[in-house]
Amino acid sequence: MLFGKTLLITGVSSGIGARTAEFAGQLGADVIGVDVREPSLASMAFIKGDLSSKSGVDEIVAQLPKRFDALCNVAGLSGATGAVGTLSVNFYGLRALSEAVAPRLREGGAIVNVASIAGYGWRANQNRALSMINVEGFPDVAEVVAGHAIQDSESYPVSKELLLLWTFRAAHLERFKSRGIRVNAVSPGPVETPILKQFRAVLGDSRVDSDISAVGRAGTPADIAPVILFLCSDGARWINGANIAADGGLEAAVNAQVLGF
Ligand SMILES: NC(=O)c1ccc[n+]([C@@H]2O[C@H](COP(=O)([O-])OP(=O)(O)OC[C@H]3O[C@@H](n4cnc5c(N)ncnc54)[C@H](O)[C@@H]3O)[C@@H](O)[C@H]2O)c1
Repeated sequence: MLFGKTLLITGVSSGIGARTAEFAGQLGADVIGVDVREPSLASMAFIKGDLSSKSGVDEIVAQLPKRFDALCNVAGLSGATGAVGTLSVNFYGLRALSEAVAPRLREGGAIVNVASIAGYGWRANQNRALSMINVEGFPDVAEVVAGHAIQDSESYPVSKELLLLWTFRAAHLERFKSRGIRVNAVSPGPVETPILKQFRAVLGDSRVDSDISAVGRAGTPADIAPVILFLCSDGARWINGANIAADGGLEAAVNAQVLGF
Protein backbone atom coordinates (compact mmCIF):
# COMPACT_ATOMS: atom_id res chain seq x y z
CA MET A 1 0.00 0.00 0.00
CA LEU A 2 3.03 2.29 0.22
CA PHE A 3 4.88 1.12 -2.89
CA GLY A 4 6.12 4.11 -4.88
CA LYS A 5 5.01 6.68 -2.32
CA THR A 6 7.34 9.24 -0.78
CA LEU A 7 7.11 9.75 2.98
CA LEU A 8 8.60 12.56 5.04
CA ILE A 9 9.36 11.19 8.52
CA THR A 10 10.71 13.22 11.44
CA GLY A 11 12.66 11.73 14.35
CA VAL A 12 14.33 9.09 12.13
CA SER A 13 17.56 8.87 14.11
CA SER A 14 16.17 6.91 17.04
CA GLY A 15 13.40 4.69 18.35
CA ILE A 16 9.97 4.79 16.70
CA GLY A 17 10.98 7.13 13.86
CA ALA A 18 13.99 4.95 12.94
CA ARG A 19 11.85 1.80 12.78
CA THR A 20 9.10 3.61 10.84
CA ALA A 21 11.64 4.79 8.25
CA GLU A 22 13.20 1.33 7.95
CA PHE A 23 9.83 -0.44 7.60
CA ALA A 24 8.56 2.13 5.08
CA GLY A 25 11.62 1.38 2.94
CA GLN A 26 10.97 -2.36 3.23
CA LEU A 27 7.40 -1.74 2.01
CA GLY A 28 8.69 0.03 -1.10
CA ALA A 29 8.32 3.67 -0.09
CA ASP A 30 10.95 6.35 -0.58
CA VAL A 31 11.76 8.04 2.71
CA ILE A 32 13.00 11.54 3.43
CA GLY A 33 14.14 11.58 7.03
CA VAL A 34 14.47 14.61 9.28
CA ASP A 35 16.25 14.72 12.62
CA VAL A 36 18.48 17.01 14.65
CA ARG A 37 20.92 14.06 14.94
CA GLU A 38 22.50 11.90 12.22
CA PRO A 39 20.62 8.64 11.52
CA SER A 40 22.19 5.19 11.37
CA LEU A 41 19.92 4.08 8.49
CA ALA A 42 21.67 4.87 5.22
CA SER A 43 18.95 3.93 2.72
CA MET A 44 17.02 7.20 2.79
CA ALA A 45 17.40 10.85 1.93
CA PHE A 46 18.18 12.79 5.09
CA ILE A 47 17.78 16.42 6.12
CA LYS A 48 19.54 17.44 9.30
CA GLY A 49 17.22 19.96 10.88
CA ASP A 50 15.86 21.33 14.12
CA LEU A 51 12.10 21.54 14.67
CA SER A 52 12.39 23.66 17.81
CA SER A 53 12.33 27.07 16.08
CA LYS A 54 10.62 28.79 13.18
CA SER A 55 13.92 29.28 11.37
CA GLY A 56 14.73 25.58 11.86
CA VAL A 57 11.40 24.54 10.36
CA ASP A 58 11.83 27.01 7.46
CA GLU A 59 15.28 25.56 6.69
CA ILE A 60 13.86 22.03 6.57
CA VAL A 61 10.95 23.06 4.33
CA ALA A 62 13.31 24.83 1.92
CA GLN A 63 15.06 21.49 1.24
CA LEU A 64 11.93 19.42 0.58
CA PRO A 65 10.75 18.24 -2.83
CA LYS A 66 7.71 19.90 -4.43
CA ARG A 67 5.52 16.79 -4.03
CA PHE A 68 5.29 13.92 -1.61
CA ASP A 69 2.58 11.68 -0.18
CA ALA A 70 2.65 11.77 3.60
CA LEU A 71 4.20 13.40 6.63
CA CYS A 72 4.88 11.34 9.77
CA ASN A 73 5.46 13.64 12.74
CA VAL A 74 7.43 11.35 15.05
CA ALA A 75 10.21 13.54 16.54
CA GLY A 76 9.61 14.44 20.16
CA LEU A 77 11.15 15.42 23.50
CA SER A 78 10.33 13.95 26.91
CA GLY A 79 9.99 17.13 28.92
CA ALA A 80 13.34 16.55 30.68
CA THR A 81 14.87 19.60 28.98
CA GLY A 82 12.05 21.94 30.04
CA ALA A 83 8.67 23.20 28.91
CA VAL A 84 9.76 25.67 26.22
CA GLY A 85 11.79 23.16 24.18
CA THR A 86 9.27 20.38 24.69
CA LEU A 87 6.26 22.40 23.55
CA SER A 88 8.32 23.84 20.68
CA VAL A 89 9.27 20.44 19.24
CA ASN A 90 6.24 18.35 20.23
CA PHE A 91 3.59 20.85 19.18
CA TYR A 92 4.46 24.25 17.70
CA GLY A 93 7.30 22.98 15.46
CA LEU A 94 5.26 19.95 14.42
CA ARG A 95 2.28 22.16 13.56
CA ALA A 96 4.45 24.68 11.69
CA LEU A 97 5.98 21.88 9.60
CA SER A 98 2.56 20.34 8.89
CA GLU A 99 1.08 23.68 7.80
CA ALA A 100 4.10 24.51 5.64
CA VAL A 101 4.11 21.20 3.78
CA ALA A 102 0.34 21.07 3.15
CA PRO A 103 0.67 22.52 -0.39
CA ARG A 104 3.34 19.91 -1.21
CA LEU A 105 1.31 16.90 -0.06
CA ARG A 106 -0.49 15.24 -2.94
CA GLU A 107 -4.31 15.30 -2.99
CA GLY A 108 -5.49 12.49 -0.72
CA GLY A 109 -2.22 12.50 1.21
CA ALA A 110 -1.83 12.03 4.94
CA ILE A 111 -0.35 13.51 8.09
CA VAL A 112 0.25 11.20 11.07
CA ASN A 113 1.02 12.73 14.45
CA VAL A 114 2.65 10.56 17.10
CA ALA A 115 0.90 11.65 20.30
CA SER A 116 0.83 9.52 23.48
CA ILE A 117 -1.33 7.97 26.18
CA ALA A 118 0.18 10.86 28.18
CA GLY A 119 -2.21 13.15 26.27
CA TYR A 120 -5.22 11.28 27.73
CA GLY A 121 -6.10 14.31 29.85
CA TRP A 122 -7.05 16.52 26.89
CA ARG A 123 -10.74 16.39 27.79
CA ALA A 124 -10.13 17.40 31.40
CA ASN A 125 -7.78 20.19 30.32
CA GLN A 126 -9.52 21.23 27.10
CA ASN A 127 -9.89 24.94 27.90
CA ARG A 128 -6.16 25.32 28.49
CA ALA A 129 -5.33 23.20 25.46
CA LEU A 130 -7.71 25.18 23.23
CA SER A 131 -6.24 28.46 24.40
CA MET A 132 -2.74 27.17 23.63
CA ILE A 133 -3.61 25.87 20.15
CA ASN A 134 -5.45 29.08 19.33
CA VAL A 135 -2.08 30.89 19.39
CA GLU A 136 -1.33 30.89 15.68
CA GLY A 137 1.91 30.39 13.75
CA PHE A 138 5.18 29.62 15.54
CA PRO A 139 4.71 31.82 18.62
CA ASP A 140 7.15 32.98 21.26
CA VAL A 141 6.84 29.68 23.13
CA ALA A 142 8.38 31.06 26.35
CA GLU A 143 5.55 33.62 26.40
CA VAL A 144 2.89 30.94 25.86
CA VAL A 145 4.41 28.76 28.61
CA ALA A 146 4.51 31.67 31.06
CA GLY A 147 1.02 32.86 30.06
CA HIS A 148 -0.47 29.43 30.80
CA ALA A 149 1.74 28.71 33.84
CA ILE A 150 3.01 25.42 32.38
CA GLN A 151 5.53 23.69 34.66
CA ASP A 152 8.46 21.77 33.15
CA SER A 153 7.20 18.57 34.84
CA GLU A 154 3.80 18.70 33.06
CA SER A 155 5.06 19.94 29.70
CA TYR A 156 5.17 16.51 28.04
CA PRO A 157 1.54 15.55 28.78
CA VAL A 158 0.45 19.10 27.94
CA SER A 159 2.27 18.95 24.58
CA LYS A 160 0.46 15.73 23.69
CA GLU A 161 -2.92 17.12 24.83
CA LEU A 162 -2.42 20.03 22.41
CA LEU A 163 -1.38 17.64 19.66
CA LEU A 164 -4.48 15.48 20.06
CA LEU A 165 -6.84 18.46 20.11
CA TRP A 166 -5.13 19.97 17.08
CA THR A 167 -5.32 16.64 15.21
CA PHE A 168 -9.11 16.63 15.62
CA ARG A 169 -9.30 20.24 14.49
CA ALA A 170 -6.81 19.88 11.62
CA ALA A 171 -8.89 17.12 10.03
CA HIS A 172 -11.45 19.83 9.29
CA LEU A 173 -9.19 22.78 8.49
CA GLU A 174 -9.55 24.02 4.91
CA ARG A 175 -5.78 23.94 4.46
CA PHE A 176 -5.87 20.14 4.68
CA LYS A 177 -9.50 19.18 4.02
CA SER A 178 -9.83 21.07 0.73
CA ARG A 179 -7.13 18.79 -0.73
CA GLY A 180 -8.29 15.58 0.90
CA ILE A 181 -5.33 15.42 3.28
CA ARG A 182 -6.21 13.24 6.25
CA VAL A 183 -4.78 14.13 9.67
CA ASN A 184 -4.65 11.40 12.31
CA ALA A 185 -2.81 10.54 15.51
CA VAL A 186 -1.25 7.40 16.96
CA SER A 187 -0.94 7.24 20.74
CA PRO A 188 1.63 4.74 21.99
CA GLY A 189 1.86 3.57 25.57
CA PRO A 190 5.37 3.07 27.04
CA VAL A 191 7.77 1.94 24.29
CA GLU A 192 11.36 0.68 24.79
CA THR A 193 13.35 3.58 23.27
CA PRO A 194 15.87 6.03 24.74
CA ILE A 195 13.08 8.46 25.68
CA LEU A 196 11.59 5.93 28.14
CA LYS A 197 14.49 6.45 30.56
CA GLN A 198 13.75 10.16 30.52
CA PHE A 199 10.03 9.50 31.16
CA ARG A 200 11.06 7.58 34.26
CA ALA A 201 12.85 10.71 35.48
CA VAL A 202 10.03 13.12 34.49
CA LEU A 203 6.88 11.09 35.23
CA GLY A 204 8.35 8.78 37.91
CA ASP A 205 9.20 5.05 37.88
CA SER A 206 5.90 4.07 39.49
CA ARG A 207 3.77 5.68 36.73
CA VAL A 208 5.82 4.01 33.98
CA ASP A 209 5.95 0.64 35.78
CA SER A 210 2.21 0.61 36.50
CA ASP A 211 1.45 1.44 32.84
CA ILE A 212 3.71 -1.42 31.72
CA SER A 213 2.27 -3.91 34.20
CA ALA A 214 -1.30 -2.99 33.17
CA VAL A 215 -0.62 -4.42 29.69
CA GLY A 216 2.06 -7.05 30.47
CA ARG A 217 5.04 -5.51 28.68
CA ALA A 218 6.39 -2.31 27.20
CA GLY A 219 5.92 -1.80 23.48
CA THR A 220 8.71 -1.82 20.91
CA PRO A 221 9.16 0.51 17.93
CA ALA A 222 8.09 -2.42 15.75
CA ASP A 223 4.68 -2.37 17.49
CA ILE A 224 4.10 1.27 16.51
CA ALA A 225 5.63 1.66 13.03
CA PRO A 226 3.01 -0.44 11.17
CA VAL A 227 0.19 1.62 12.68
CA ILE A 228 1.80 4.89 11.58
CA LEU A 229 2.38 3.51 8.09
CA PHE A 230 -1.15 2.11 7.78
CA LEU A 231 -2.50 5.62 8.45
CA CYS A 232 -0.26 6.91 5.62
CA SER A 233 -1.64 4.35 3.20
CA ASP A 234 -4.73 4.48 1.00
CA GLY A 235 -6.12 1.62 3.10
CA ALA A 236 -6.83 4.30 5.71
CA ARG A 237 -8.58 6.62 3.23
CA TRP A 238 -11.76 6.82 5.34
CA ILE A 239 -9.90 7.48 8.61
CA ASN A 240 -9.58 11.16 9.40
CA GLY A 241 -9.22 13.07 12.66
CA ALA A 242 -8.83 9.80 14.58
CA ASN A 243 -6.53 8.89 17.44
CA ILE A 244 -5.47 5.25 17.38
CA ALA A 245 -4.15 3.85 20.65
CA ALA A 246 -1.18 1.55 20.02
CA ASP A 247 -0.62 0.57 23.62
CA GLY A 248 -1.52 -3.08 24.21
CA GLY A 249 -4.83 -2.00 25.76
CA LEU A 250 -3.56 0.66 28.17
CA GLU A 251 -6.09 3.31 27.14
CA ALA A 252 -8.91 0.81 27.61
CA ALA A 253 -7.59 0.04 31.10
CA VAL A 254 -7.42 3.75 31.96
CA ASN A 255 -10.97 4.25 30.62
CA ALA A 256 -12.19 1.39 32.80
CA GLN A 257 -10.49 2.92 35.83
CA VAL A 258 -11.74 6.46 35.15
CA LEU A 259 -15.31 5.34 34.37
CA GLY A 260 -15.32 2.79 37.18
CA PHE A 261 -16.32 -0.36 35.29
N1 LIG B 1 8.92 5.73 23.76
C1 LIG B 1 7.78 5.92 24.40
O1 LIG B 1 7.54 5.38 25.48
C2 LIG B 1 6.74 6.81 23.78
C3 LIG B 1 5.43 6.73 24.27
C4 LIG B 1 4.45 7.56 23.73
C5 LIG B 1 4.77 8.44 22.73
N2 LIG B 1 6.07 8.51 22.28
C6 LIG B 1 6.36 9.49 21.24
O2 LIG B 1 6.97 8.85 20.15
C7 LIG B 1 7.79 9.79 19.45
C8 LIG B 1 9.14 9.15 19.17
O3 LIG B 1 9.75 8.88 20.41
P1 LIG B 1 10.83 7.73 20.62
O4 LIG B 1 10.30 6.87 21.68
O5 LIG B 1 11.22 7.16 19.32
O6 LIG B 1 12.01 8.61 21.26
P2 LIG B 1 13.55 8.80 20.82
O7 LIG B 1 14.13 9.69 21.83
O8 LIG B 1 14.14 7.45 20.62
O9 LIG B 1 13.46 9.55 19.40
C9 LIG B 1 13.08 10.89 19.26
C10 LIG B 1 13.79 11.47 18.04
O10 LIG B 1 13.36 12.84 17.89
C11 LIG B 1 14.51 13.59 17.52
N3 LIG B 1 14.37 15.01 17.87
C12 LIG B 1 14.32 15.53 19.12
N4 LIG B 1 14.30 16.86 19.07
C13 LIG B 1 14.32 17.22 17.75
C14 LIG B 1 14.33 18.46 17.07
N5 LIG B 1 14.36 19.63 17.73
N6 LIG B 1 14.34 18.46 15.71
C15 LIG B 1 14.37 17.27 15.03
N7 LIG B 1 14.38 16.06 15.63
C16 LIG B 1 14.36 16.03 16.99
C17 LIG B 1 15.65 12.95 18.33
O11 LIG B 1 16.92 13.33 17.83
C18 LIG B 1 15.32 11.48 18.20
O12 LIG B 1 15.94 10.90 17.07
C19 LIG B 1 7.84 11.03 20.31
O13 LIG B 1 6.95 12.01 19.79
C20 LIG B 1 7.37 10.54 21.66
O14 LIG B 1 6.76 11.55 22.41
C21 LIG B 1 7.05 7.71 22.78
